[in-house]
Amino acid sequence: MKIGCPKEIKPQEFRVGLTPQAAREAVAHGHQVMVEAGAGTGAGFADADYVAAGASIVPTADEVFASAEMIVKVKEPQAVERARLRKGQLLFTYLHLAPDPDQTRDLLASGVTAIAYETVTDRTGGLPLLAPMSEVAGRLAPQMGAWALQKANGGRGVLLGGVPGVRPANVMIIGGGVVGTAAARVAVGMGANVTVLDRSIPRMSYLDDIFQGRLTTQYSSAAALAELLPEADMVIGAVLIPGAAAPKLVSRAQLSTMKPGSVIVDVAIDQGGCFETSKATTHADPIYTVDGVIHYCVANMPGAVARTSTMALGNATMPFMLALAGKGWRRACAEDPHLLAGLNVHAGQLTYAAVGEALGLPSISPSEALA
Ligand SMILES: NC(=O)c1ccc[n+]([C@@H]2O[C@H](COP(=O)([O-])OP(=O)(O)OC[C@H]3O[C@@H](n4cnc5c(N)ncnc54)[C@H](O)[C@@H]3O)[C@@H](O)[C@H]2O)c1
Repeated sequence: MKIGCPKEIKPQEFRVGLTPQAAREAVAHGHQVMVEAGAGTGAGFADADYVAAGASIVPTADEVFASAEMIVKVKEPQAVERARLRKGQLLFTYLHLAPDPDQTRDLLASGVTAIAYETVTDRTGGLPLLAPMSEVAGRLAPQMGAWALQKANGGRGVLLGGVPGVRPANVMIIGGGVVGTAAARVAVGMGANVTVLDRSIPRMSYLDDIFQGRLTTQYSSAAALAELLPEADMVIGAVLIPGAAAPKLVSRAQLSTMKPGSVIVDVAIDQGGCFETSKATTHADPIYTVDGVIHYCVANMPGAVARTSTMALGNATMPFMLALAGKGWRRACAEDPHLLAGLNVHAGQLTYAAVGEALGLPSISPSEALA
């Protein structure tokens, strides 16, 4: 199959859909790989790395879209990219269609078959192409929060790990899933005093087992939040209710119970955030202050470490990309219900019920699209 990888054009997106390693695998499986010139630069991959992997470099995105049978990307196609999509082409990338009627309309009109990273599933009920980015964002959260806690950035001037004779900072993590666990790992490693709140008892039991007493778990309730917020130096929001906006667990009124110069890192901001006072920020201007509390609410945290994120995403997408290229989307999806779960659009029809419900559009089941 002819696989094409254009350079990402969404502002501040430095990741790339194919790593040279993935390109090499695809070439070894007999596929032809075309990469737009400079596509890997933001993630630290030179055109020469792709050439060494057996791919060809093409000068423009137009050429990639014109000749590739499958387009592999990171972010949802932007309007100018959607205009280049062709009937029958296969698109494999993050889409997030539910809040995006314009993109949905364009994808339906284009006649492509689109498989969304974010809805591909695995045997444990997880989302294997979202998890690597949650791992990245979770590990970054205490690092960004520690930076914001420094005096020059408006913070309380507290060192996460303390020093002998001085207590460490209190870090409270709301939600102990993939993000929360990764954040806990780093915060514990930095020597902070960590409490994780969750509503899933099996999840807290798992955390209790793996951290062996190096953190505290607490059932997430309004009372627990009210008790812990005044003592927290950093609060990390990492809650997810699948398919729904993040619940607002901390109100503006509760913010005033927090210490001046304490820090909120709302990782769940991409789902609306779990603090009433959260609004999305960017890497260029990541923090703002409400009632003396610093808010870090960057909606695409993995972009800060584009190279690590690209490699993590590439590892997760590669087997699916190879299956799609090797078998064609129909057989690959027919043989793998988890990949089939990623099918969002086929030949002018929506194939993901939740997207249809969110946008008030009709949808067919993915199996009907296969038939
Ligand atoms: N900002 C970014 O760049 C970025 C990057 C990756 C992920 N995210 C977001 O981070 C959030 C968390 O993702 P994840 O992969 O860890 O999800 P996850 O499903 O692995 O974990 C979510 C956890 O929240 C818990 N939870 C649900 N309701 C709760 C409540 N009321 N109180 C406490 N815990 C509660 C669940 O039991 C679960 O353990 C999502 O919104 C995700 O989209 C953001």
